[in-house]
Amino acid sequence: MKAKGIKSIALMTGGGDCPGLNAVIRAVTKTAINKFSLEVWGIEDGYLGLIEDRMRVLSYNEVSNILTVGGTILGSSNLANPFKYRVTGEKKTRTKDVSGNCIKKLKDNGIDALICIGGDGTMASAARFAKKGINVIGVPKTIDNDLYGTDITFGFNTAVNTATEAIDKIHTTASSHHRVMIIEVMGRYAGWIALHAGVASGSDIILLPEIPYRLDKICDFVHGRSKRGKRFSIVVVAEGAKEKGGKMVVARKVAHSPDPIRLGGVANVLVGQINGQTGLDCRAVVLGHVQRGGTPTPFDRILATNFGHMAVELLMKGIKGHLVVLKDGRLSSIPLSRVAGKIKTVPRNNHLIKAALAVGTSFGI
Ligand code: F6P
Repeated sequence: MKAKGIKSIALMTGGGDCPGLNAVIRAVTKTAINKFSLEVWGIEDGYLGLIEDRMRVLSYNEVSNILTVGGTILGSSNLANPFKYRVTGEKKTRTKDVSGNCIKKLKDNGIDALICIGGDGTMASAARFAKKGINVIGVPKTIDNDLYGTDITFGFNTAVNTATEAIDKIHTTASSHHRVMIIEVMGRYAGWIALHAGVASGSDIILLPEIPYRLDKICDFVHGRSKRGKRFSIVVVAEGAKEKGGKMVVARKVAHSPDPIRLGGVANVLVGQINGQTGLDCRAVVLGHVQRGGTPTPFDRILATNFGHMAVELLMKGIKGHLVVLKDGRLSSIPLSRVAGKIKTVPRNNHLIKAALAVGTSFGI
């Protein structure tokens, strides 16, 4: 069955990579071929490949045996925004709207619809393409789980597993050497990974971007534990967490990126501060991109397969400009225009925060 005149679709993976991207590519391509006899194009390196006209027809074989593989066979990039693309002239660099050229390239290749797999940045551009009349469906990806409109993004579950496993291992050194171990996890503006991995690993202190911490409270807490004979503490800190009245710790700025700020280093800052105030032996471990790698968990493989299948189904039902979401345990979709420019942060009244507080976890306040 072919609906709404769609014969050929393209898909791309944008932004930071994440476990489960290949599982979505597989689900989209196999569904499109098996169920609707469509032609499927893979765009390389996200919007950059669309801008540079780097795309190819995907064969069934190419997407076979990739369900469990981390990363993306298409490549990804978080450096290109088609509506604000950096072009370097003889005298200076300026930004240019090249979205019209992208649309022309899709048309020239006979592509009727586009599936964009990505996070907030990717969806912001997808919403603008939809506004320009392109048949677009978004699929929510990010280990940070901060995409607005969906209860969960694929990749998050795997990242939480990876972080929890690492913290469990760090626990033994903390205990043997009576140290304060500070583990920095990803999460720029939303602390979902820190909250979930922190609770799952039984960490003593969890620091989130949403709850600015007080250094004196953290020091009192670890000191109190040490006085009670608990001679070690585990602190999980999201990279975007900051002290009350303070600023996020920026590692560097990436000039060509639509979101140029790269965070990192808050754990090292805390090591100096906590050691300085308590005299306790402290160490920092920054988990970084380890959290974005590896094979997806069964949960993420299932979610990615559901999302990919649903994306093609929506297109074939004639629905466009929507993001596939999981809401209250059900697969559905919402307009991309409602998602663009927003992020989903951890609310203060989150049930897991309440449970963590009840079992004695500190949030540094
Ligand atoms: O958005 C996902 C994410 O992993 C963030 O948590 C992190 O701050 C950022 O990407 C890192 O980006 P990059 O790979 O460009 O350093």
